[in-house]
Amino acid sequence: MADEPLVQAEEVVEIEDAVEVEDTADDEDYVIDGRNLTKVYTMGDNEVRALDGVDVKIKRGELLSIMGPSGSGKSTLMAILGCLDSPTSGEYLLDGEPVHALGDNALASIRSKQLGFVFQQFNLLPRTPAIEQVSMPMIYAGIRGRKRKQRAQKMLELVGLGERMDHTPAELSGGQQQRVAIARSLANDPAILLADEPTGALDTKTGVEIMALFKRLNREEGITVIIVTHDVEVAEQTPRVIHIRDGLIERDVINETVVDIDPDNIPEH
Ligand SMILES: Nc1ncnc2c1ncn2[C@@H]1O[C@H](COP(=O)(O)OP(=O)(O)OP(=O)(O)O)[C@@H](O)[C@H]1O
Ligand SMILES: [Mg+2]
Repeated sequence: MADEPLVQAEEVVEIEDAVEVEDTADDEDYVIDGRNLTKVYTMGDNEVRALDGVDVKIKRGELLSIMGPSGSGKSTLMAILGCLDSPTSGEYLLDGEPVHALGDNALASIRSKQLGFVFQQFNLLPRTPAIEQVSMPMIYAGIRGRKRKQRAQKMLELVGLGERMDHTPAELSGGQQQRVAIARSLANDPAILLADEPTGALDTKTGVEIMALFKRLNREEGITVIIVTHDVEVAEQTPRVIHIRDGLIERDVINETVVDIDPDNIPEH
């Protein structure tokens, strides 16, 4: 017992074979280029610095995860990168275009053309068939009826739900609901997918299947995929991991041994 430490150190999540990311690309290679981003929320007399000067560059076609403790600023960063919110200060170039100072309408237009979103709780409409859920973003983008339906069918087939087009969320499993949400996020052919805890509400096997789908979309469709996660087993599957703490990037690492988990053969713990 003498060798036991009196206080157990807080478990630090480490990914093996991780090396720091180096900034080597030309500016135009980056689809996301955030510079000194801050987000300050004012609550009465209190200020919360949710982001405290974040520099983040992401190349087209990357697959990465963002990890960090609760309250560290992950969702705030995703909201800014996803043009759902503007930074308090700093610059954000999306595909080379400065977007940090744009108004709500311009941001909404960029979101609808370039970005897709996936959330922990799926955020589907109740009592609405899958095909209509996936069609919805195309209505706002002005795509006409027949083309809209064809594309919605194609996206549902892409996520493996060709046989479930007319099912409502209540008639689908959690993993299938998340697939509908992913098909919906793809409706307008986004360059970037942003997913905030997409496996957080799913069991291990279903989470692995959803990760396999993100990896396939990244590899085969060339979509840049950014995943916020608490789960080190999710982060181990992405080639790059950004660690956030107290509104700052603590570490930004390349994962040299990406773990490839087969959904049909999940290792025991
Ligand atoms: N709309 C808001 N108004 C005031 N404070 C906010 C608001 N949104 C977030 N915050 C604060 O900003 C900080 C970062 O929040 P954020 O939601 O980005 O954390 P997170 O890393 O996503 O946490 P979690 O893992 O729990 O989802 C927290 O201290 C939070 O309380
Ligand atoms: Mg969050």
